[in-house]
Amino acid sequence: MLDLIKKAEQTHALERDELAALLEQTDEDVSKALYQAADRVRAAYVGSDVQLRGLIEFTNFCRNNCLYCGIRRDNPNPARYRLTPDQIVDFATKAASYGFKTVVLQGGEDPWYSADRVADIVRRIKKLDIAVTLSIGERTYEEYKAYRDAGADRYLIRIETTDKALYERLDPQMSWDNRRRCLEDLRRLGYEVGSGSMVGLPDQTTESIADDILFFKELNVDMAGIGPFIPHPDTPLKDCEGRKFDLALKTMALTRLLLPDINIPATTAMETLNPNGRVIALRSGANVVMPNMTEGEYRRLYELYPGKICVSDTPLHCRTCIGAKILAIGRTIGADKGFRGEFLKRKA
Ligand code: 5AD
Ligand code: FES
Repeated sequence: MLDLIKKAEQTHALERDELAALLEQTDEDVSKALYQAADRVRAAYVGSDVQLRGLIEFTNFCRNNCLYCGIRRDNPNPARYRLTPDQIVDFATKAASYGFKTVVLQGGEDPWYSADRVADIVRRIKKLDIAVTLSIGERTYEEYKAYRDAGADRYLIRIETTDKALYERLDPQMSWDNRRRCLEDLRRLGYEVGSGSMVGLPDQTTESIADDILFFKELNVDMAGIGPFIPHPDTPLKDCEGRKFDLALKTMALTRLLLPDINIPATTAMETLNPNGRVIALRSGANVVMPNMTEGEYRRLYELYPGKICVSDTPLHCRTCIGAKILAIGRTIGADKGFRGEFLKRKA
C-alpha cells in the first residue's frame, strides 16, 4: 500500500484496482501516509494559499427530484425562497468588501432565473472586479454561452457519480450523458470547470469511486469537490447509511495525488460530519474553502443535507472564523482570484 502511495505521489497515476485498494484499506498508518502525501503534493503544486470563495445560495427552488437532496422538488417541507437580482448583487458586494476575490452563485435548477437574468446578474457582479462562479445545474450550450459572454469565469457541476445506472436511479428523469455533455460544453466555452462527486451513496462501490477519480483525470477538471453523502430525513434515502467521512477524505486525497495542480475544496459536508473536518481536509490535499455568504434565514432553508454548519452565523462571522482556522494551521489566504496554475506560474 505504501508503495502505491509513493507511485501516486511520483507519477500522479494509478490504475483503477490500485485506487480501489487504497480506498478500501482501513489501516490508520496507511491512511495517514496517504493524507501526508496529498499534503506534500498540495504544497508543491498549489502552495500554502487557501483560496476563499464566497458562496451565495440564491434559490432553493428546484425542478429536479434527486433522491438524496433536501431541496428536491417533492420535498414539501422547506419554505421556498428566491433572492432578487438586487439582493444577490448586494450579497456579492458585501463578500467583495470582506476581501473575497470570487463569489459562487449556487442554486437549485430554477427556471425563474432565465439566461438573460443570470447574465445580467453576472455582468453587475463583474463590475466589482471579482471572479464569478456559477453552480446552477444543467443548462443548454446557448445558456452557458450567454453567462460566459456576460463574464462568468467558472462553473461547478458535480457528476455526482460516474456509475451511470446509479446516477439515473438517484436522479430520476435526468440523464448522465447530458450531465457529461454540460461539462464538455463548459470546457469548450472556456470556463474553468469544476466537477465532483458524493462518496458513500447507497450501492456505490470502491471501484465506482475509483472511476470517479479517473473521470476527473480524463476530463482534466480544474476543480473537484468531493463530499460525503449525508442522508436527509425528508428524502427517499433517509434510511441509508452514508456519512462516510474517512472514505470521502481518502477519495479527496487520491484526487490530489492524481490531479496535482487543481483546486480542491475542503467541503462543508466534511465539516458537518466532523467539527474539524475542513481543517483536516486542508491538511490532506485541499486548498479551497467556500464560506457561506448567504444572509439571514435563507441559509437554513438551503438544506441539501441535515446538520449543515453555520446556519445561524453571519457572513462576516464565517469569514473571520475560517480565516483564523487557516492561519492557525500555518497556511495563508489567497490574495488573487485563484485560477488553476497561478501558483506554478508564479514559481516558474
Ligand atoms: N449529502 C451530501 N451532499 C449532497 N449534495 C446534495 N445532497 C446531498 C446530501 N444529501 C451535494 C451534491 C450537489 C451539491 C451542491 O451538494 O453533490 O452537487
Ligand atoms: Fe461559519 Fe466557522 S465558517 S462559523
